[in-house]
Amino acid sequence: MISAYLKTRFAAALEGLADDVPAALELIRPGQDAKFGDFQANMAMPIGKKTGKPPREIAQAIVARLRIDDLCKEPEIAGPGFINLRLREETLETLLQKCVADTERLGVAVVEPAHRRRILVDFSGPNIAKQMHVGHIRSTVIGNALQRMLRFAGHEVITDNHIGDWGTPFGMIIYGYRHFLDRTAYENNPLEELGRLYRLVRRLIDLAGKPAGTPSAKPTVSDDAGAAPDTDSSDPDSSDPDASSFREQFQEYLDRDIQAAVLEEVAKLHQGDTENRTLWQEIVDHCLVDIDRMYRRLNVSFDHTLGESFYQPMLAPTVESLLERGIARETDGAVGVFFEGEEVPMLIRKKDGAFLYGTTDVATVDYRMERWQPDAILYVVDFRQALHFQHLFATMRLMGYGADRLELAHVKFGTVLGEDGKPFKTRSGDTVGLESLLDEAQERALAVVQANLSPENEGNDPSEKERSEQEHRETARRIGIGALIYADLSQNRESDYVFSYDKMLAMNGNTATYMQYAYARVRGIFLKGGVDIDALRKSGIAIRIREPQERALALELLRFDEALDWALRDYRPNILTAYLFELANRYSNFFEHCPVLKAADEETKISRLLLCDLTARTIRKGLELLGIETVERM
Ligand code: ARG
Repeated sequence: MISAYLKTRFAAALEGLADDVPAALELIRPGQDAKFGDFQANMAMPIGKKTGKPPREIAQAIVARLRIDDLCKEPEIAGPGFINLRLREETLETLLQKCVADTERLGVAVVEPAHRRRILVDFSGPNIAKQMHVGHIRSTVIGNALQRMLRFAGHEVITDNHIGDWGTPFGMIIYGYRHFLDRTAYENNPLEELGRLYRLVRRLIDLAGKPAGTPSAKPTVSDDAGAAPDTDSSDPDSSDPDASSFREQFQEYLDRDIQAAVLEEVAKLHQGDTENRTLWQEIVDHCLVDIDRMYRRLNVSFDHTLGESFYQPMLAPTVESLLERGIARETDGAVGVFFEGEEVPMLIRKKDGAFLYGTTDVATVDYRMERWQPDAILYVVDFRQALHFQHLFATMRLMGYGADRLELAHVKFGTVLGEDGKPFKTRSGDTVGLESLLDEAQERALAVVQANLSPENEGNDPSEKERSEQEHRETARRIGIGALIYADLSQNRESDYVFSYDKMLAMNGNTATYMQYAYARVRGIFLKGGVDIDALRKSGIAIRIREPQERALALELLRFDEALDWALRDYRPNILTAYLFELANRYSNFFEHCPVLKAADEETKISRLLLCDLTARTIRKGLELLGIETVERM
C-alpha cells in the first residue's frame, strides 16, 4: 500500500531524470533497518552509472523535485546516494484506518483493468488409477494457493484438473479385474480391491521373466502410452521375503507374457473396445470418488476436470495438422517436433501409431485456447517434467501462440523427502498414501490441542474446560491439515524439503500452527475483555502510532498487498508465508511491549485493540488465500 503511494510520487520526480522510470521505481524497497528509515530508494546509483554523474548529486536532484512531505518526514541522503524515507505517523494512521474500514479486502486494491488477465491454472493432475500419495500434495496445494491469490488480486481464473485417466495402469487394472477379481471384496470396498489388483499385476509384471533371486530392474512396462510418465512408481523390492511364495502362487501367470497381455488390454481400450471401455468407465468412476474425498479434505475444488481421456479424439488430427504445417516430421517411422539447436525431438506419435503424453498436452493447449482464450497457462507440475514443458512450450510457439499473447509457465516444484533425505516412503518402502498423511496430521494435531488443554497450560479460563470433544476434533482437523499445507507452501517451491510432522506442528516458528495460534490469541483477548470488536471497527476511533513496536507492526500490516504482489510475480506462495511469519513476529513483539487491555488510557486501549484486530484479520485472510482455515480458540 505504502510503496504504491511512494511510487506515484517518485514517478513524478523522476520524469526527465531517469529514462526507465518503471525500473527505477522497482528500487524503492522497505528499509532493512528501522534506524535508517522505513523505505529506501536506491535508483540514484544506476542512474548515475548510466549518465556518468555522481549518484549523490542525482539523489539530491530527485529529493529536490520530490513532493512527498505530506507522507514522509524530510528524506535523508546517505552513503553513495541512498534516499532514506521515514513515514509520518499520521500517514500510517490514515492508511491503517482505510484497512480497518475495508472488511473485505483489508485495503488491498483490485488489479487495474489494464492488467487484469485470464489465467488458466493446471494443477493436481494425479494419475487416478492409483491412490493419491504424498507426491500429489505439492501440485495440489501450490496450485490451490496460487489460484486463490490470483482471484483475490482480481484476475479471472480458470482451474482445470488434467487427471491421468488413460494410461497403462488402467490396462493393469483391467487385466487384474479379468483374472483376479474378488467380487465380494470389490462390492464392499471397490477402491481397495482395485488397488490390490493394480499392485498385484504390477508385481507380476516386475517379476515376470526374471529367475527368482535376481535383483529387480526398472519396471518394464512404463505408464506412458499417451499418459503422464510416472515419476514415482515404486520399484519392487528385490529382497522381498515373500517373493518365493508369491512366485509359487502365481507361477502360471509368470510363465505367460503378462506384459503383452496388459498392453493388449490398453490397446483394446484405446481402440474403443466396448467391454474395456465400460470397465474403464466403471474403474474411473470409483477412482474419482476417491480423489474427490481428498480434495474435500484439502478444501480444494476445480472449475473443470478434463482428463487425458477427454483429448483422445483430438490426438490424431493434432498430429496430422502438425505434420501438414511442417511443425512436426517423421523420423524412423515415428513423428516428432524438432527444435533448433536440440538433438532430442518431442515425440508425438510412436512407430506403432501410439500417442504420447506430449501429444495430449499439445491438443490440450489448442483446446484451451479455443475455448477460453486465456492470457496465461500455469502448469503446477514436478520439476522432473521440465524438459517436457520446455518442449511443449516451444511447440506452442511454433504453432503461433506468441509469447506476447500467451504466457506459458511451468511452476515447478521439488520432491518431498523423508528424514533420511530420500524421497518420502513408509517404513516398508511404499509411497505414503495421501489419506494416511492427512489422518496422521490430524491425529498429531489432536495431541497438540489436548496438550494445550492440560491443566498446567490451561490458565484460569473455566470456559476452556467446557470444550466438547467434537470441538477439539474440528480444531485438530483445521490445525492438522493447515500444518501440512503450510509446511509445503512455506518452502521455496523449487527445492526439495524434508517432511516432518513435529516441525510442521510446532507452536513456534514458521508454521501454520504458530499463525493460527496468533490469530486465536487475538480472538481470546476480545473474548476475555468482552470487546465488541465490530462496534469498535465502526466507531471511527483512530489507531494511534506511538511506540516503536506499534510502528513496526503498522508498517508490516501495510505491506500485505505488496507481499501478495511479489508472491504472484513468480508464482511463489512462500513469499506470502514469509510475510505472515514476519507479521506474527512483529505482533508478538508488540504484544510483549504494549499492554492492550491494561493500556494506560481508553484511547490507547482501543487503538491497540484495533491493531490486534487488523493483525488477526490479515493473518486470517493470508491463510485463507493459502487454503488454510483458522480456529477461534486453541
Ligand atoms: N498426470 C501428470 C503426472 O502425474 C501431471 C499432469 C500435469 N498437467 C499436464 N497438463 N501435463 O505427472
